[in-house]
Amino acid sequence: MFRAIFVLLAVFCHVARLQSTATCDLFTFPSTFKFGAGTAAYQIEGGWNEDGKSRSWWDWFTNNYPQYCNNATGNIACDSYHKYKEDVAAMKAIGLEFYRFSLSWSRILPKGFSYSVNQAGVDYYNNLIDELKAAGIEPLVTIYHWDTPMALEYLGTTWTSPKMVDQFVAFADLAFSLFGDRVKLWATINEPKSFCQGIPGYFLTYIFPELPMGTLEYLCGHHVLLAHAKTYRLYQEKYKSTQNGRISITLDLNYNMPLTNSTEDIEAAERRNLFEFGWFAHPLYYGDYPQIMKTVIANNSAKQNFTASRLPKFSCTEKLMIKGSYDLFMVNSYTGTQVTLKEYNNEPSYINDEQTSGTQPDHWLSTAVSNLKVYPEGIRYVLKYIKESYGNPEIMITENGYSDTTGNVNDTLRIEFIRETLGNIRLAICEDGVNVTRYTYWSLLDNLEWARGYGVKFGLVQIDFDSENRTRTLKRSAYYYKNVIQNRYINVTDSTE
Ligand code: BGC
Repeated sequence: MFRAIFVLLAVFCHVARLQSTATCDLFTFPSTFKFGAGTAAYQIEGGWNEDGKSRSWWDWFTNNYPQYCNNATGNIACDSYHKYKEDVAAMKAIGLEFYRFSLSWSRILPKGFSYSVNQAGVDYYNNLIDELKAAGIEPLVTIYHWDTPMALEYLGTTWTSPKMVDQFVAFADLAFSLFGDRVKLWATINEPKSFCQGIPGYFLTYIFPELPMGTLEYLCGHHVLLAHAKTYRLYQEKYKSTQNGRISITLDLNYNMPLTNSTEDIEAAERRNLFEFGWFAHPLYYGDYPQIMKTVIANNSAKQNFTASRLPKFSCTEKLMIKGSYDLFMVNSYTGTQVTLKEYNNEPSYINDEQTSGTQPDHWLSTAVSNLKVYPEGIRYVLKYIKESYGNPEIMITENGYSDTTGNVNDTLRIEFIRETLGNIRLAICEDGVNVTRYTYWSLLDNLEWARGYGVKFGLVQIDFDSENRTRTLKRSAYYYKNVIQNRYINVTDSTE
């Protein structure tokens, strides 16, 4: 009964949409549009101390503070370190056109520095890339997805320090030289807002309450931007002419809508866009932070007796280096938020500077992550926002997905989520004229959802975490996605029935 209503509703929505436009075919994707799926090293690889790999910050955190990580570590995870061929076989079965994965820095450089390269780590990624190429699947490589080598952390070489900039550039340089003959799409750093601002934690105030919040976040973001831009420039000078790849940074933005029509809420929603996305996108496009960040943080810092603004400043040379340091935009987007003005609090922190709070309505469908309720329309507004704010760039969606707690292969709600999301992407392309060229479903596999552990399942592929084999089974959504990719067509019904 539920399914019948659900299918009828889906048909109705699609027909209504189709009628809303005369010129667009809202069901069909052109052959130039590419479909893929993504993962990150720490979430899937396991093999945490094998063949010369050293510990990353996440190995340290999950193994030392299980009470904050749902007693889960990435020590084995999906065991992709040993089972990458099975991963690629699953991708091939789904018909993925590209695969986004990340490099584990401490697997390639156990000391953090480029002077001691771990050949076994290099072999692992060479094998994975070769396996992908042989299967006709293009690699999209994220150089850094949150797992800083502990070797560097011990030296204080982390994102709050300028020393991290050159370390990152050296690692990226090595990655280009090792893999750039086959990798033509690079994301330097994943979601700096998430790890600089702290969810899931990087600055763990519950472990280290003395951390000076309100300064760390901006130092982190500042060095991320410098590291990204320096890497981009290095690639242009050293590799572009021979490798001809393209580079960006993955930023995250969920659709921020004002809770009410009040001026305060409208301003709060836009302030949140600027603090969360503009923080990084403005320097890339305009060469500096959004004016509102500069003003608010300077004013708050003065009230709090800081001698200078907590937001660092770029020199003129740095501004020139950062401005335009991307070939396209990469965005991760999952949901929407209703935003309202938050009462001022004089305690220094990014959250208090942003001065907004967000909620999601009860009627939006819940997922396994409490603040990622289902709002598939959000992605359309996010795409339109980027188009209008940043000069209509080419955009790739580098993450979007739906999580449940069961990991059941009969995942009808995930199918519905993908269908509705793709419908909204078509609307963005057709009706809003957004130049979006790729969709990456997050995630290929059920995996370690960071500090939330294994209870949150985003995958198209189920992993049996109770079996030593970590058996992989394609879910129904994988077959649905396969059908979309094959036919370049958003089916209304679930053709796997
Ligand atoms: C991260 C992923 C994570 C996903 C779902 C993104 O913020 O890049 O690593 O699994 O969200 O929470």
